[in-house]
Amino acid sequence: MTGPRYTPLAATLPSTVPFVGPEAQERARGRAFRARLGANESLFGPSPKAIAAMAAAASEAWMYGDPEVHDLRAAIAAHHGCTPAHVVVGEGIDGLLGLLVRLLIGPGDAVVTSLGAYPTFNFHVTGFGGTLHRVPYKNDLEDPEALVTKAAETGAKLIYFANPDNPMGSWHTASKVQAMIDAIPAGCLLLLDEAYADLSPPGTVPTIPADDPRVIRMRTFSKGYGLAGLRVGYAIAAPELVTAFDKVRNHFGMGRIAQAGALAALQDQAWLAEVKAQVIAARSQLADHRLCARWRLCPRGAAGVGRAGCLCPHAGRRAP
Ligand SMILES: Cc1ncc(COP(=O)(O)O)c(C=O)c1O
Repeated sequence: MTGPRYTPLAATLPSTVPFVGPEAQERARGRAFRARLGANESLFGPSPKAIAAMAAAASEAWMYGDPEVHDLRAAIAAHHGCTPAHVVVGEGIDGLLGLLVRLLIGPGDAVVTSLGAYPTFNFHVTGFGGTLHRVPYKNDLEDPEALVTKAAETGAKLIYFANPDNPMGSWHTASKVQAMIDAIPAGCLLLLDEAYADLSPPGTVPTIPADDPRVIRMRTFSKGYGLAGLRVGYAIAAPELVTAFDKVRNHFGMGRIAQAGALAALQDQAWLAEVKAQVIAARSQLADHRLCARWRLCPRGAAGVGRAGCLCPHAGRRAP
């Protein structure tokens, strides 16, 4: 009896997964988490209009989704002021990262990212045999100048840069990102991961012509739109690069419910604005909570007593 014959590359890959999901961690610890924070999902959930659209599409789920994702791509293009030929939709940014790396990176090709940056990207680069060069963060921020310098040094084909960034939660200004784009070495593509752009402060998102061949920007419905479980993301790039995705993408990867839900979510910008306001308010509440974890400094209670109604585990309790 023989087993499967792996490719030489697959045979050398480490048995690692980029994330251990909260469900796996809950099974391992034998109880549920009280708060589900680790994957940056939106606890505010999706627009009620998106929920209604998904419910309506459910009875049509016997049909495959439109492989050209026509309506959603048209709506995304209108939203961003480009054409559908500039838009590719995929199974979240994660799925699109894998496709882009597959298109550009072969064994030994150099790729630049930040040390500690989004691990799923690294997972794909390793999976296609690329060589990762990691540049340290500077003052809790990605270091655009050092990323570009490293790309020039190594002849990298691809730079990964997230703005705003996860895990740091920090961001660069639009003009800084534009300066980075202008400094990209010839033959290198900037992968601008804008997963959090829908929630970012004004002045963080540069206006990049969709035809600019130096950049591909990626967006998702997982964060501000509250649809992480739907797996819909998209990339905006020059049409030549968008067309190249057709060579490798899963043409029936976007189900009907996913397409309908994402379209309705995009069309409900009022919901997104409301979520953004709530995220900003919740962020300061969480900052209080972090202080509160020091118990005696609970900012919401009298000295040594967590105030009733506070989110923290000390609520209404006396410090030991
Ligand atoms: C920087 C960054 N990019 C991409 C993703 C994944 O996006 P998606 O859900 O569209 O795959 C995440 C999710 O946490 C992220 O933090």
